[in-house]
Parts: sequence; structure tokens; C-alpha cells
Amino acid sequence: MSPSSPSFAVEFDEINQEIVLRGTMRVRSPEEMTDATDLIRRSFGHGGHLVYVNIKRLTHLNMTAFRCIADVLTEACLADPQRRIVIVASSVIAWSAPLFETLASAQPNLSVEIYDSAFYPGQTFVEDESFIPILRTQTKMTWRHEREILPRHGMKEGMAIADICCGIGDFATLIKRQFNPTRLIALDHSKKSLEYARRVAAEFGLNSIEYTYGDASQMLLADNQFDFVTCRHSLQIFDRPDILLRELYRICKPGGRVYITNEKNSHCLGEPHSESIRWTYDEVAKLFSHFDMDVEMGPKSRRLLTDAGFDTIKVESFMVTNLDGDPRDFADVIEAWENVYAGQMAVRRGDSPDFIRRFRQGFKDHVLAALHPKGYAGWPIWAASGRKPF
Ligand SMILES: C[S@@+](CC[C@H](N)C(=O)[O-])C[C@H]1O[C@@H](n2cnc3c(N)ncnc32)[C@H](O)[C@@H]1O
Repeated sequence: MSPSSPSFAVEFDEINQEIVLRGTMRVRSPEEMTDATDLIRRSFGHGGHLVYVNIKRLTHLNMTAFRCIADVLTEACLADPQRRIVIVASSVIAWSAPLFETLASAQPNLSVEIYDSAFYPGQTFVEDESFIPILRTQTKMTWRHEREILPRHGMKEGMAIADICCGIGDFATLIKRQFNPTRLIALDHSKKSLEYARRVAAEFGLNSIEYTYGDASQMLLADNQFDFVTCRHSLQIFDRPDILLRELYRICKPGGRVYITNEKNSHCLGEPHSESIRWTYDEVAKLFSHFDMDVEMGPKSRRLLTDAGFDTIKVESFMVTNLDGDPRDFADVIEAWENVYAGQMAVRRGDSPDFIRRFRQGFKDHVLAALHPKGYAGWPIWAASGRKPF
């Protein structure tokens, strides 16, 4: 580890061949960068043919600091033209990629990758705008259950709360009204969803929710800040949920709790036509798994929370059904799932027209079960939480 000043640090991770820069690099003279550039230079000496330079948590960089880093990178490129250097930036820090792309354009062995788009290809489906109406109806349906469940997991009035992967922010508005937190941050990676969230909050006259653009696996939030951290229906779309859980753990105060919800899609059910419905949802699970997402995660919550270091873990499951509220809401959600899953996702996987026809039939039967006067349709969800030890 690192030469560091109070405001920035540089370290070399030998296992990942990664030089990590973080913090605020605002220096008055190149001398203040000497320790950092020496370490970068030595790291290239230890590194192999492919070295990553991770700037995802470098929040500020003035021109003096940039020039020092640019010089040491250029020197490393020229010293070994066979070596590839990849700068890993994040779209969260908007200035960083264009700045380093200019540098990369002059060096053939230097390139820039935007971490959050290059590493989560599958997630473009869930950041799609077409999901916005579904998310809103989904939350309406789950809130009937969760407003009772949350206090059993420790949520109460007057807490500092973070909702990570908040989507369109509707859950945060409900939390705000029901539990009146002292501080409420809602973070997501979809700018469209956040715009929508801010608009809805303004319409509701709620101006204290801090809607924040960010990458949940690399948050810029400080450690040990929140009494209660929620992350709903989102761990299941990360191929590395452990990384996200580590971040949720980090921002939670010791003694605070992290609350997660996840599904087990193959347990969606309905009557009549239960067989067709079951077949389709088994296929939904396989389809998501093709894109490295695990929509069977619900019952794994206890293990995931335990492995992440939480204690006093609580797990419960609930079934959203067509009898909870307006059955049309249930049907709308299923139709929206059909649109995305049997639409762009199945097509992207290369499924045949025959498969897609059968796949769609199960959703149509689920809708029929929801709207049938004697029908029953269900969508099971697992809610789990763990305490961060003192
Ligand atoms: C299935 S939605 C769930 C949204 C919300 N929690 C809910 O229950 O309605 C998953 C959310 O995760 C967000 N997301 C995906 N990758 C993310 C990342 N790397 N950082 C932050 N949010 C991310 C998506 O934009 C989307 O809003």
C-alpha cells in the first residue's frame, strides 16, 4: 500500500494486476505527486503484459495531477510496446473517461474501458426504459407486504436509510412517508430511472430524498453511514452479488441492518394451466442464467448474507397474488415480463420461433389465471436481512 496524502491514495493489487487510484488528486505542484507516480512506475515493473489502472474511485483530478499521471503512463507505454494498459473508468465520474481517452488516442497500447457498461452487459435489459411502468406496479404490489415486513427486520422511524439500486425511486418515497427517515439516499445506475424518480418525488412534494447516480458495486458513499440499507430485486441481476453485498455491508453502520429481496422465478404459479405456467417460469430462470443473472436467488439469501459477514439473519418469504389488490395489476406485470423476456431477451439468446411461442403461452396462461374469476396466480419473493456486527 501506498504513498498517500489525506486526500488520495495509490495502491497496486498484484493479484488483479491493477493499479488503483482513489480520492481527490488536487495538487499544487508535481512534487506532491512524486510518491504516487513512483509507485505507479514500480507497479508497471512488477506487472505483466496486461496492467489495469483503476480510476473508478478517483473523484477529482486537477491538470497538474493529470499531467503527472499522463507522463508516467506514456513512459510505461513507450518502455514496453508489447504491454497493454487498460484504464478502467466509471460512467459515474463523467469527466474521467474522455480525459483519458484523449491520452489513449496517442498511444496504441493504452485503452480506456467504462467499467459499468463493459462489465454488466446483461443488465442493459433491466436499465431499459420499458421497465419503468412494470417497476412501479411491482412496487405497488409488494409494498402491501413489505410495509408489514420491514419493521420485523428493524426498520423504524428516524433512521438514516439507503436504498441501493432504487430503480424509479418509488420504494424510497413510500419509505419516506411511512418511516420518516432522518436521511434517505436512493442510488441507481439508470439516469432515466433517476430522472423519473426525481419527478415523482417532486410531484409528491418530497424534496429531501437524495437521488444519486452511482455504481452499486463501487459506491462513492463513505463507510458506516446508514442504520438500514435496502437493496430490492437487484442482487439477482448481478453476476457477482458478493461484490455488491460487500458494498452494502461497508456503508451500513455496525449494528445496522441490510435488507434484500430476491425472487425464485421457477416458483411462480397459477391455476388453471399450472403446467404451462411452470414450464415457462423454469425457462425464465434458465434465460436469466444465460445472461449471468440468478432469478432463483431468493432462498439463497441466508447463505449470501452469512458469507458476507452479517449476523442475526432473518429470512421470510411472501407471495404476491392476484387476490392482493386489483388482479389487472398482476396481469399488467406478467404482460410486461412477457414483452421483455420473450421479446428482446429470448431473441438475443437466439431462441427459435417455436420456443418463443411456447414460452409466451405460459405468460398468457399466468395472465388468464390472474384474471379468471376462479383463478389464482402467485409471484413468490424472499425478504431477508442481516445485522452488521459491532
Ligand atoms: C430489477 S431493478 C430493481 C429496482 C428497484 N429496487 C425495485 O425493486 O423496483 C434493478 C435496478 O438495478 C439498477 N442497477 C443495475 N446495475 C446497477 C449498478 N451497477 N449500480 C446501481 N444500480 C444498478 C437498475 O438500473 C435497476 O433500476
